Amino acid sequence: MSRIAYVNGRYLPFADAKVHVEDRGYQFGDGVYEVCEVRAGRLIDERRHLERLKRSLGELRIRMPMSTRALGIVMRDVVARNRIGYGIVYLQITRGVARRDHAFPPPQTRPSVVVTARALNKARNEALAEQGISVVTVPDNRWGRVDIKTIGLLPNVLARQTALERGSRDAWFIDARGIVMEASSANVWIVTSTGTLITRHADNAILRGITRTVLIDAIKAEGLTVEERAFTLEEAYGAREAFITSASQIVVPVVRVDDRIIGDGKPGRVALALRRAYHRYAEAG
Ligand code: PDD
Repeated sequence: MSRIAYVNGRYLPFADAKVHVEDRGYQFGDGVYEVCEVRAGRLIDERRHLERLKRSLGELRIRMPMSTRALGIVMRDVVARNRIGYGIVYLQITRGVARRDHAFPPPQTRPSVVVTARALNKARNEALAEQGISVVTVPDNRWGRVDIKTIGLLPNVLARQTALERGSRDAWFIDARGIVMEASSANVWIVTSTGTLITRHADNAILRGITRTVLIDAIKAEGLTVEERAFTLEEAYGAREAFITSASQIVVPVVRVDDRIIGDGKPGRVALALRRAYHRYAEAG
């Protein structure tokens, strides 16, 4: 079956799904995106993802090309047209097509909208979670507004490539003071040796993950506690558990960081319990 993409109002076979060479996303990385999980053909946490999208656009002063309701309809259409049961839907909005000039284009310039969807291998993801992953650490050399989900992901791309070249699955960004910021496309959590669950507070220096937000709510609803604060790489090395969270993988245990084994080197109890519990607290559209 050929894949279908939505591009500026049209549903097109992938081969014809193209954007202009002067699209500002292509030339400047001047755009934002969202990734939503799809489960049993339904969008997970759509409302929160679209709220964050709206915020990202607002921070960059790109106008909403259509209502969040209409964007939701397009996303669901793309999922249905591609017959995705389990996978992800990707939505990208850029400042549109205009003659190359750093300053904003004329106000009538229409933002470009692209939506694609892709099936993921559920068995492979489950196996990964049961096994746990290893990560490497890299210096956080990103700009100061990574709370905005922009398509400018060069440091993230380089970090992930470094991880793969060192035989690991992912990379964690560490700031100049040794604080664990986030992974290349996920948030980071640890359970300390005394059993405290910690994830870094969300400010301008990390992305406020939707998976992170839903899990924090879930943990509180269960009467448990989570500390939202900075933690160092040293604390992470000595942790009982570590894991990462994102819409595409939900919760993935981390069993090695650089050359240090975390806990007993197996996925932790808390990580696996949160992974199992997630969809009881998430919104399914
Ligand atoms: N990444 N931090 C970064 C840098 C991310 O890129 C992501 C998501 C997250 C987790 O956010 P959420 O829980 O809302 O997915 C944290 C997506 C999945 C991606 O780039 O593919």
